[in-house]
Amino acid sequence: MKWLSIATVTAGLAGSAAAQAESVPYTDAETGIAFQSYPSADGVEFRVALPATIEAGKPYDVILQVEAPKSLGWIGWAWAGQMTYNPLTIIWANGDQVMHSSRMAFGYSSPTAYPDATYQILKGTGVKGDTLKFTALCKGCSSWTDFTGEPFTVDASQEARFAYAFSANPVAAPADNGTTFTIHDGVGHWYHDLPGAKSASFADWVAKNTVGANGTAPGMNGTAVLSATRPRGAPFRFMERVRRDLGVDARNRA
Ligand code: HEM
Repeated sequence: MKWLSIATVTAGLAGSAAAQAESVPYTDAETGIAFQSYPSADGVEFRVALPATIEAGKPYDVILQVEAPKSLGWIGWAWAGQMTYNPLTIIWANGDQVMHSSRMAFGYSSPTAYPDATYQILKGTGVKGDTLKFTALCKGCSSWTDFTGEPFTVDASQEARFAYAFSANPVAAPADNGTTFTIHDGVGHWYHDLPGAKSASFADWVAKNTVGANGTAPGMNGTAVLSATRPRGAPFRFMERVRRDLGVDARNRA
């Protein structure tokens, strides 16, 4: 009897480990990019494609795609699966344009501009009917300086825990990617299959889906307007904030 219950528990644990990744393969017809896609219960899909070869601990580029109802006020993607001290990709529709803003939160309050993640807009970005789609090459979404001041890289050899948040309330100034916005109506966490997102076609996909010489095309907002650009070599304001905030444990893993 005792043996049976241990076996049952063991089988259960093995099953849950194998079923951990919640993303599924998805090929976007518009770009031909084969993503691992997480269809959230809130109607927003979060997709990742990666280069075939990623050296452990080294920064790497990602192609991300978010597809969502355009009626949402904003949608956020948190690259370490938590609100604070990780790059946040924020997206919303401004009429027929898809806006994006790179942010970081240093507490449970409005996130500020984060210039160390940059986005090159790709084809597959725009508003069609009731849906917005954002597709971009991100440099700086997979690695950053963590809460303790150490370099951190998302481990692409296994599933990664990401998080999202969204609000039905529009941002304060939809045409301005430095805009403020109010707290989310919902948040969620998921495990993304990163090994399954790797492909030797990565560079080809970027080349084929690069839009216009200046990175813009109708229906897209490809300009990285950031209000807190940090000149290279200038004192690292991020670390100043970390020290200032050290009294607050922001490593909430809820
Ligand atoms: C004005 C903007 C925002 C405010 C005021 C805000 C505030 C908060 C607060 C107070 C909590 C804690 C809730 C609790 O523990 O009961 C929380 C949690 C959370 N927020 Fe935000 N938030 C904002 C924007 C964002 C954005 C843009 C994201 C991007 C994904 C985000 C992601 C999360 C997540 C994932 C959690 C769950 C706890 C965690 O994993 O850290 N938030 N937020």
